[in-house]
Amino acid sequence: MKFNKLLIAVGILAMFSTAHTAIANEGVALKHAEISVTDQAQIRRGLTVFTDVCMGCHSATYVTYKDLMDYPEIALTREAVDELRGDHALTEGMRTDLSAEDAKSSYGKVPPDLSVIVNARNGGANYVYSVLTGFEHDPKGRIPDGNYNEYFPGHRIAMPDPLAWLDHEPADTAQLEKDAQDVAAFLAFATDPHQNQRRVIGFWVMGFLLLLTLVLWRLKVEVWKDVKKH
Ligand code: HEC
Repeated sequence: MKFNKLLIAVGILAMFSTAHTAIANEGVALKHAEISVTDQAQIRRGLTVFTDVCMGCHSATYVTYKDLMDYPEIALTREAVDELRGDHALTEGMRTDLSAEDAKSSYGKVPPDLSVIVNARNGGANYVYSVLTGFEHDPKGRIPDGNYNEYFPGHRIAMPDPLAWLDHEPADTAQLEKDAQDVAAFLAFATDPHQNQRRVIGFWVMGFLLLLTLVLWRLKVEVWKDVKKH
């Protein structure tokens, strides 16, 4: 294969590998979440939504209290972490106080651990954002209010509308959407906490490879120039 063809092939492959689909189950197009996994302020706001609201039912056991200090994307102070963790050890994951049995008897289902939910679901952060702002009245009138969700597969969801989205005042829409996006940003970061570091390393590796390619190409030209003379 010619060098340019190879380059084009690599380029096309790279494009495919970074393309994301935003289509949920059953073909419902998800809402687009405005999030950034490098935006410390947003991730911190999302953490607050998570601890104030979601942790009433959900855990994120892969995120330890120590992580909240150590990851530069969050970097809480020791005091702030101590306040959050109470009696829990620094090295413990963030666990809800709701037992699986109580969850089951109250909601009929055990709320899933959210540590890696963004990687585990089609649509990732867009899915989380859409579900949180997807509580509607069932257009067919079958599923009771509070259990109908536009974006949840099958539409019947056991989670009680955590941000009180259904029938909220129009004046609150912006704030609720912001809370939903912020917590989606926190979960998108938590699902792969080394993603930013890896991107930086990847950038330098690509730069190095490009440079190496140039050097080797020049070298090849140089060497063959001499060979052809004889
Ligand atoms: C009162 C308990 C409760 C609270 C509070 C709560 N959830 Fe849930 N959540 C549930 C239950 C129960 C389910 C399982 C729903 C199902 O499978 O039908 C669930 C499911 C989910 C799902 C769907 C997972 C999947 O399987 O696709 C996501 C995403 C989610 N919750 C995110 C959140 C976020 C983010 C918050 C905080 C803003 C939150 N939840 C607050 C109880 C809760």
